[in-house]
Amino acid sequence: MKDKLKKIKDEFLKRIKECSSLDDLEKIEKDYLGRKRGKITLLFKKLKTLPPEERPSVGALLNQVKKEIKERIEKSRFQLRDREKEKLSFDITLPGKKIELGHLHPITQFLEKVIDVFLSLGFEVVEGREIETEKYNFDLLNIPSEHPARDVWDTFYLKQYHQEKIKGEGKLLLRTHTSPMQIRAMEKRKPPVRLIIPGRVFRHEATDPGHETTFYQCEGLVIDKEIKVTDLIGTLKIVLERIFKKKIRIRVRPSYYPFVEPGLDIDMQCLICGGKGCSVCKQTGWLEMLGSGMVHPQVLKNMGLSPEKYSGFAFGMGIDRMMMFYYGVNDVRLSYSGDLRFINQF
Ligand code: DAH
Repeated sequence: MKDKLKKIKDEFLKRIKECSSLDDLEKIEKDYLGRKRGKITLLFKKLKTLPPEERPSVGALLNQVKKEIKERIEKSRFQLRDREKEKLSFDITLPGKKIELGHLHPITQFLEKVIDVFLSLGFEVVEGREIETEKYNFDLLNIPSEHPARDVWDTFYLKQYHQEKIKGEGKLLLRTHTSPMQIRAMEKRKPPVRLIIPGRVFRHEATDPGHETTFYQCEGLVIDKEIKVTDLIGTLKIVLERIFKKKIRIRVRPSYYPFVEPGLDIDMQCLICGGKGCSVCKQTGWLEMLGSGMVHPQVLKNMGLSPEKYSGFAFGMGIDRMMMFYYGVNDVRLSYSGDLRFINQF
């Protein structure tokens, strides 16, 4: 009987611990102390069947446990009542909870600044698809499939079952740059054109403080008669000065992109150290800002234009990178982390 009593008590303590409502408590009380079937009540009834010499000690123990159970139930009842009251009552004099207002993401804010600069120079803003075909992302930009330059753009291809729909344009992929929109935009336009194409691009790359698999670019395309390299350099210098709101020095280096000839990389004197060399510019004094060049004659032909009659320049800028220099952010991955401690600083 003593063993049984201990078991009942342990089981009771476990149940009362887990009890979370007054209804539950009611049930527990009935199960243990109920007049007819309560587990403790039944033990009292069994007391008569014990040998007379055991009855006093077991009876005393039973009374003790019954008292404990009762007290424990009362304690829980108070606690649960308090909790339920708390739930129901509210103080109408308390000030309301402030609703947090969102704001534009720092990348979006910066991109809007960039777009404004181009609008002020008479550029048109065009947007394009994020899912492209090999034909537009590569072939028409003078990057044939066997060309080693294709490897520069580590590409995410769409799964096989999405591929069947598109004929004669190669595989479907996530665009690796905004350059394919140069071609698409020119399918609907005639020179003279001055375009920018901001948008998201995707690369199948390992991430680090300077690389993300998703980021923003802003493509530019200017085509007219007699567009020259000096137009390219002059335009981009003005653009950078308007974005960063100060006089800056730029440096032009030859570079290679299959869709331009010549290809030029444009560097800007480091804003942090003024050219002396620091960790941001990796001690070079210069920050690489844009890829650019004169539109390749083959690409002009792919746009349906005669290279004899027209010329143009194109450029691609990494918005995330520029935004980092602009605000002094040292890791691109922060932009996409969803961390409000970062986002709320802008
Ligand atoms: N599409 C190039 C990239 O993603 C950037 C670029 C370089 C764009 C030169 C251009 C250009 O229009 O002329 O790396």
